[in-house]
Amino acid sequence: MIKIGLLGFGTVGTGVYEIINNTENNLRILLNKEIEVSKILVSDINKKRNVVVSKDILTQDPLDILENPEIDIVVEVMGGIDKAYEYMCLAFKNNKHVVTANKAVVSKYIDKLLDLANKYDRGFLFEASVGGGIPIIKPLKQSARINNISNVRGILNGTTNFILTKMCDENLSFDEALNIAQELGYAEADPTDDIEGYDVKRKLAILSSIAFNNKTDVDSIMCRGISSINKVDIKMFKKLGLVSKLVGSAVSNDNNYSASVEPILLNENSTFTTVKDAFNIVSITGNVIGELQFYGQGAGKNPTANAVVSDIFDIVTGQYKRDDFVQNGKLISADIDLFKGR
Ligand code: NDP
Ligand code: HSE
Repeated sequence: MIKIGLLGFGTVGTGVYEIINNTENNLRILLNKEIEVSKILVSDINKKRNVVVSKDILTQDPLDILENPEIDIVVEVMGGIDKAYEYMCLAFKNNKHVVTANKAVVSKYIDKLLDLANKYDRGFLFEASVGGGIPIIKPLKQSARINNISNVRGILNGTTNFILTKMCDENLSFDEALNIAQELGYAEADPTDDIEGYDVKRKLAILSSIAFNNKTDVDSIMCRGISSINKVDIKMFKKLGLVSKLVGSAVSNDNNYSASVEPILLNENSTFTTVKDAFNIVSITGNVIGELQFYGQGAGKNPTANAVVSDIFDIVTGQYKRDDFVQNGKLISADIDLFKGR
């Protein structure tokens, strides 16, 4: 029996719980093991919740999960930085695998967390931290092993793409569109992170750290959000046949890196223009593979929870062992000799 401890039971946490408890999916058959969510950390145990769970499973004490010898995998979906980082470190020290959707923590501490995972020989996966339901971290790691990646570019925030789409296509005001994005569970706890581009900056830092094999400092990324774009601007862009999108872009040139996040204007025929609502797109270019594009739902309960459960699957099946780790400050591929002795 695989036992999961969930840190957080909001939009993403409830999605993960539902997938694991859905008897109609093939998870148990594919894993050939029983799997359950044994404990869930929340900040308010008495809060009214949409998903019915036994009160015995909920706890307000993180140690019920982090120091519980029965828990195999800690899934951090509570958000924030300091507490989330502290809990993940403690989870590794207690020999647990860690899965997270938290781009704020991953972008800031990717090297330290990979180091800890390596030290304790545990898995650390964070597919859901970029692009919601889009599988991008795993394919990017795979591509970066063979290719020199020259650039990573994308629409990486569902909330702002939803706002810009609704303002353009349905003439909604910025605030009206933001309210809907919040109701749909797309926005961060503090939507300033979405609107001002900080969320994209974090996701871009994660992608470029992997793509360029070098930790990208989030604060070094030039960043401008969409808060100054209003209905009049959108109307004028439309008249000119242009569409505004918040785009993150990281480029490597002879070991020099540059990265930025800003709203840009695209013509109506651009591929990025067709990415609407909370959908995201990520384009990577490698010297061998050429351009690859990844497209899908970039935020929301089910897509994000799907990415988290895929990571859980990779941990239970041991696939995480082919992952990257840090050595001397570099993110490098784990040297698993699958053909030892041959
Ligand atoms: P929510 O705000 O919906 O849920 C957060 C959960 O964590 C709540 O259950 C809350 O408890 C609990 N929590 C928060 N802080 C603490 C704490 N200090 N101690 C104990 N429990 C705590 O967040 P989301 O589910 O939307 O997001 C979770 C993470 O996933 C974030 O890092 C976010 O950036 C990331 N993410 C979110 C996506 C989305 O579409 N929503 C997509 C991709 C990633 P309580 O229920 O009692 O309030
Ligand atoms: N707030 C984020 C977004 C969630 O809107 O894209 C997904 O990371």
